[in-house]
Amino acid sequence: CGIVGFTGRTDCVKVLLSGLESQEYRGYDSAGIAVLGQDGLQVRKAAGRLANLRAELTQNPVGGCTGIGHTRWATHGEPNEVNAHPHTDMSGRVAVVHNGIIENFAELKSQLIDQGVKFRSQTDTEVVAQLLGLCDRGDMRATLRQVLPMLRGSYALVIASASQPDTLWCVRCNNPLVIGRGEGANYIASDVAALLRYTREVYLPDDHEVAEITADRISFFAPDGSPIEKEIQQVGWDVDSAQKKGFDHFMLKEIFEQPRAIADTLRHYVDTDTLTLRRDRMPFTRKQAVLLRQLTIVACGTAYHAGMMGKSLIQRLARIPVQAEIASEYRYSETLATENEVVIAVSQSGETADTVAAVRKAKKNGQRVISLCNVIGSTIARETDAVLYTLAGPEIAVASTKAYSTQMLLFELIALDLANLRGELSDEELREHLAELLRIPEKMEQILAQKDMVKEFTRRMKDCEDVFFIGRLMDYYSSLEAALKLKEISYLHSEAYAAGELKHGTIAMIDDTTLVVAIATQESVLEKTMSNVEEVRARGARLLLLSDHEIAVPAKAEVWAVPQTFDAFAPILTIVYLQLFAYYMALQRGCDIDKPRNLAKSVTVE
Ligand code: G6P
Repeated sequence: CGIVGFTGRTDCVKVLLSGLESQEYRGYDSAGIAVLGQDGLQVRKAAGRLANLRAELTQNPVGGCTGIGHTRWATHGEPNEVNAHPHTDMSGRVAVVHNGIIENFAELKSQLIDQGVKFRSQTDTEVVAQLLGLCDRGDMRATLRQVLPMLRGSYALVIASASQPDTLWCVRCNNPLVIGRGEGANYIASDVAALLRYTREVYLPDDHEVAEITADRISFFAPDGSPIEKEIQQVGWDVDSAQKKGFDHFMLKEIFEQPRAIADTLRHYVDTDTLTLRRDRMPFTRKQAVLLRQLTIVACGTAYHAGMMGKSLIQRLARIPVQAEIASEYRYSETLATENEVVIAVSQSGETADTVAAVRKAKKNGQRVISLCNVIGSTIARETDAVLYTLAGPEIAVASTKAYSTQMLLFELIALDLANLRGELSDEELREHLAELLRIPEKMEQILAQKDMVKEFTRRMKDCEDVFFIGRLMDYYSSLEAALKLKEISYLHSEAYAAGELKHGTIAMIDDTTLVVAIATQESVLEKTMSNVEEVRARGARLLLLSDHEIAVPAKAEVWAVPQTFDAFAPILTIVYLQLFAYYMALQRGCDIDKPRNLAKSVTVE
């Protein structure tokens, strides 16, 4: 979910709506705002997209200089208008927007019902609003001191009260929240990108710190009520980076930003004159690298696929055992921490609840934890021992693209560095590899220039019923990411298979309505993959082949040439084709590409 707050001397509705708009990728089941104005506290909500809320506001306008807003990804209660945020207490004087889950809400709710409180929604959030309303005597800071200790679970809350109409309060616990400082106006949002249009000066509150915000003042308090001094942070991203800039969708814009994102990330970690890695920006010293016995990578979704690439790259180049684990599994599994093991968490947002939990578990086990994050100052970035940022800039589309390729790039750099520090790769070889990486942006451009060809191919393929992506080794991991990309934005059934595994059952599904996309960039298994291609062709499948090698092309197969590079780096190129393929397939099928159904970009619930 996305939350916003604004307090200033001008009308807040426009700011709230624009804040919600730029956070709609965090959830879009329903939306709402609460405004404090001459008529006291006024709430407007609508099920569905933000456009519905705008329509509601045209019919029933509200005005005022202080307000809060929310765009929802449903957890408790179906996504209808009643369950949409903000929620108010019975008296209609206190309004709350919430991101997260109050785990003990049922217990609190029954206690409140016993005290005569009448509930309107099925949400856990209304419990917070009712509790605050019941306890508040006109001093919300004191009320929060009383109520917050009763809440179990995770939350980012923003609160407005008719008793103190120029003030907002916010507090977080395991959920993202940023406060932006403006001139005569202050802002609250779930992430920095939503604030870029207004300010680049932000405060990042820690868990349980309460912020009290008026147009001219932002004050922080510890849970016991004592004041805290906090440092303001400057955000490096610019406003343009969070706009579509002439592209039809954020996803397409972000696919096209990859050469720039890769180049920026490379420049940050590599001294391009000497072709060496910048030691102060890499996470291991020589001693740490030599002592390292095991690496465990934890992540979710696309970041997990980058993690699998990381596993392959590090094992192959640095010869260290690596396991890649889904964070939601790792956090509950009986992990065995090994001596000299390091955990690497990968997360674009740095806020994914399961990955945060995995980080905390590893830290509790006494392990060193390194993170690869895109969002500066995010929870994971702050809680890990070292963070390597992907310099992708804000990623707005729900389907991750440039964050993924830059995560892969960081794994390439880490693998090369570890290999070099452990004596598996000479300085000269390292330089050769880095020189080749510096050529990747240009090679990506060559693929992007093929976009019309990709589009034309999807026009011919839009009627197919299933898409199978096959490959071996790193090409298999690319298949996983390609299949995820396709299903999340086009809703077309797609699966990824290790090419050699297909014959053990799944090949039964293949007929002439199936498109098989074979990825063949890994020299050592090229022939094996091509035999699997023959097997599916013999069963009537339509065929698309992606390769950077000279291969005998089977009859009637479409071939997309991947610019040649080292095998270890080929996945960072092939994925560009596969992202374009998913994008145009979704476009042919008329899908809402930047906001696919049922999804949210930042999943801050488990
Ligand atoms: C969500 C997004 C995915 C993303 C995953 C992990 O499911 O829809 O695109 O890969 O979360 O997000 P993170 O921010 O941790 O990389």
